[in-house]
Amino acid sequence: MIEIKTPAEIESMRRASRVVAEVLLQLKPLVKPGVTTAELNDFAERRVRELGAVPAFLGYRGYPATLCVSINEEIVHGIPSPKRIVREGDIVSLDMGAVIEGFYGDAAVTLAAGAVSAPAKKLMEVTRSSLDAGLAAVKAGARLGDVSRAVQEYAEKNGMAVVREFTGHGIGRRLHEEPSIPNFGRAGTGPTLKAGMTLAIEPMLCLGRADVVVKNDGWTAVSADGSLAAHFEHTVAVTEDGCDILSAP
Ligand code: MF3
Ligand code: CO
Repeated sequence: MIEIKTPAEIESMRRASRVVAEVLLQLKPLVKPGVTTAELNDFAERRVRELGAVPAFLGYRGYPATLCVSINEEIVHGIPSPKRIVREGDIVSLDMGAVIEGFYGDAAVTLAAGAVSAPAKKLMEVTRSSLDAGLAAVKAGARLGDVSRAVQEYAEKNGMAVVREFTGHGIGRRLHEEPSIPNFGRAGTGPTLKAGMTLAIEPMLCLGRADVVVKNDGWTAVSADGSLAAHFEHTVAVTEDGCDILSAP
């Protein structure tokens, strides 16, 4: 069952999602050559708590940090470490969730550390825009497959490969609720969206092939061919005529 949230519940989700958006924005200037991924995580955890929220990922299924930091061929779920140093030309995906008043927000961005290659830049732009394409397909009465299809079509027309092992998800009282939201699919299929449904839409795209390998830390998902990957995510509420982006800064 896909839960419908009340306006008051959506406002709690907006508070949680705004904390995520604000902290991701504040992390942006820190993503520079020389910073460690542990430093990014520590900043994120401190800011989330200062803003009155609780980190959503810390302890989730045993995940050990507040932030996921996934660099270059790492797609998602990179674990921060004091030994992992960001280098010039890296693309750095930051993914974070927060909880306020029992409601969750979740968002992700991919940022450039210094000057990145032209293909890396294109990958980031296409991934960001594929999220926009998905969001543009969200409205009451649309089918979930319309959203999945819109992301896939934009990504593939622009030469990128869609990761299939990970999906977006419903979100609200829990980080992951129904439905699961693949970034590929067929228009006109799947559940019909209704106003008040709350969704985390999160395309993950690769420059090469999209096959995934999980490293032996049990978390870090990398592209099997070592090609670059990018990830953008917003938490949104379905409205009668579109969507309300709860994780807009
Ligand atoms: N945004 C991702 C997701 O929704 C990250 C959660 S992974 C975690 O699945 F385990 F670290 F929490
Ligand atoms: Co998510």
